[in-house]
Amino acid sequence: MAENPYRPRRSVLYIPAANERALAKIATLACDTVIIDLEDAVASGEKASARDRLGAIFANRPHCEMVVRINRFGGEGGPEDLTAALACQPDGILLPKIDTPRDILEAGDALDEADSSDEVKLWAMIETPKALINIAAIAELGRDPASRLACLVAGTNDLIKETGVQATADRRYLVPWLMQMVLAARAGGIALLDGVFNDFRNLDGFARECADSAGMGFDGKTLIHPSQVEAANAAFTPSDQALAEAKAIVTAFAKPENAGKGVIALEGRMVERLHLVQAEKLLAKAASIGA
Ligand code: COA
Ligand code: MG
Repeated sequence: MAENPYRPRRSVLYIPAANERALAKIATLACDTVIIDLEDAVASGEKASARDRLGAIFANRPHCEMVVRINRFGGEGGPEDLTAALACQPDGILLPKIDTPRDILEAGDALDEADSSDEVKLWAMIETPKALINIAAIAELGRDPASRLACLVAGTNDLIKETGVQATADRRYLVPWLMQMVLAARAGGIALLDGVFNDFRNLDGFARECADSAGMGFDGKTLIHPSQVEAANAAFTPSDQALAEAKAIVTAFAKPENAGKGVIALEGRMVERLHLVQAEKLLAKAASIGA
C-alpha cells in the first residue's frame, strides 16, 4: 500500500525494548511515532530478552505509528530481530548502520519472503560515512515501492563518533551532511527525520534545535525522552501565519479573474502557481496533523 505522503512524523520517540517503565508510557504519549529499539539502547546481555518482549509490546498496540529498530541486518542478532519484528506487523522496521543501497535491498528480500503484502516499510539510519557518501543512491530506492524504503533517519551521535567532528550547540559541522540528507530524501520522495538531542533536560536548547531542523526541511525529530514531544510537535506543525498565507494563496488563485494566470500579485508580492502547489501541500499536511 502506498504511504500517505502527509503522514505526520513530527515527534518520533525511541523507547528501549528492555525498559518496561518507559514502554508502559506509550499509550499516554502524544508523539506521532514510537521506535521500539533493539539496537544501541539495549545492552548485549539483554538483546534476546528484549526481542522476546516485542510480541507483548505490540499486543497493546497504541494509535501512533510503531516502528522497530533491529540490530544490523548483516550482524549478530539482526536476522532474528527482523523475523521477530515482522511477526508484530509494525508500520516499519528501522535498519541501523547501513552503508549502501544493497544493505536495504537485502533486508527487503528477507521481508519479501515472509510478507508479500509490502505493508511493512523499511526505514534506514544514515549514520556511517559510507551511507553519507552513497546517500543519493540510497534515497533513490524510495522511487521503487518494491524496495519498501519509506524514511531516512539521521544518526548524528554515530556520525560524530565515526568522523571525529566536534559536537557544537549549533551543529555547524553536521549541518552540511544533514542538508545532503534533505536533498537526497526529497529527490527520492521519502520522509526524513533529524537526529536526537542528548541533553534532554535542556528544553530551550532542544526547542532551538527543532526550529533549525524544521527550517532545514526535516519532517520531524527523533527523540529520547517524553519531555521532548511537545516542543517537537510545535516546531513541525505549520504556524497559524503560514496557514493563513497558504489559504490566501489558494483563495486568490480560485478567483475567476485569476483562472488562466500563471503569476499574480498578492499583497505586494509575486505569487506563482508553484506557490499554489506549495500552499496546497502545507494545507494537506496541516489537515493530516489536525492543525
Ligand atoms: N520513552 C518513554 N518513557 C520514557 C523514556 C522514553 N524514551 N525515557 C524516559 N521515560 C520515562 C521514564 O521511564 C520515567 O518514568 P517512570 O518514572 O515512570 O519510570 C519518566 O519518563 C522520566 O524519566 P527520567 O527519570 O527523566 O529519565 P531516566 O533517567 O529514567 O531515563 C534516559 C533517561 C536517557 C536513559 C531515557 O530517557 C532513555 O532511555 N531514552 C531513550 C534512549 C534510546 O532509546 N536511545 C537510542 C536511540 S538514540
Ligand atoms: Mg546509531
